Amino acid sequence: MEENRRPLIAGNWKMFKTCSEAVETATQLVKTVADVTVADVMIAPPFTALFPVSEVIKNSNVVLAAQNLFWENEGAYTGEISAGMILSAGCTAVIIGHSERRQFFGESDESVNKKIKAAIKAKLIPIFCVGETEKERESKDTFSVLDKQMKKGLQDFSSDDLETLVIAYEPVWAIGTGKTATSGQAQEVHRFLREECMEKKFGNKLAKSVRILYGGSVKPGNIGELMFMPDIDGALVGGASLDAETFGKIVHYK
Ligand code: PGA
Repeated sequence: MEENRRPLIAGNWKMFKTCSEAVETATQLVKTVADVTVADVMIAPPFTALFPVSEVIKNSNVVLAAQNLFWENEGAYTGEISAGMILSAGCTAVIIGHSERRQFFGESDESVNKKIKAAIKAKLIPIFCVGETEKERESKDTFSVLDKQMKKGLQDFSSDDLETLVIAYEPVWAIGTGKTATSGQAQEVHRFLREECMEKKFGNKLAKSVRILYGGSVKPGNIGELMFMPDIDGALVGGASLDAETFGKIVHYK
């Protein structure tokens, strides 16, 4: 990664941990990463654990994200959670368009776009996920798929709107499979996202400052070489973020 961008290591807890389990892990994590000043450390527990975890991390260097939101402010939308609710639970960021949401819950590039708008309006940092499936990679469609996700997801925004945007590149074939993209494969895509997608549409300044995380089977053993790549600015970690000690090792990648 380049020095002008601050690394961000984010843990996506997915649908794991009850409130008490989440509080316990967060309590351990706060201690484990207390010495870290050179990177942002973030965790995204399930909705039910956000508020209790926010109390645990209050005076620490760990920040909180939600895993999803709905774009309306309030209303008769049974089962949904708004940006304002997420903010009030102590979050500063929200993951949007994770491939599991796209795959299992019918999220489209259009709904992702609305969610990013709602997050920005509420001053939540959007962590916008993109990635190709194994079939798309095999048929050499990786770049066209990513280009479409980026264009549609970021439609109607100006570069000023996207100052806080974080992009997460997560090849679907590498999520939870133990298969990681090589650091070279990831770097190739990160450069494409920065130079072809961000710079062409939003200009050099935003392209240079936007943080692009890699996600997909990140572990203590591979984070170092990923972070060595010039366009990889951090990681979105699933499975390996559930244990405070393991996630702590990833955060201490240097
Ligand atoms: P994984 O998940 O680290 O378990 O592969 C990454 C993610 O889905 O964000």
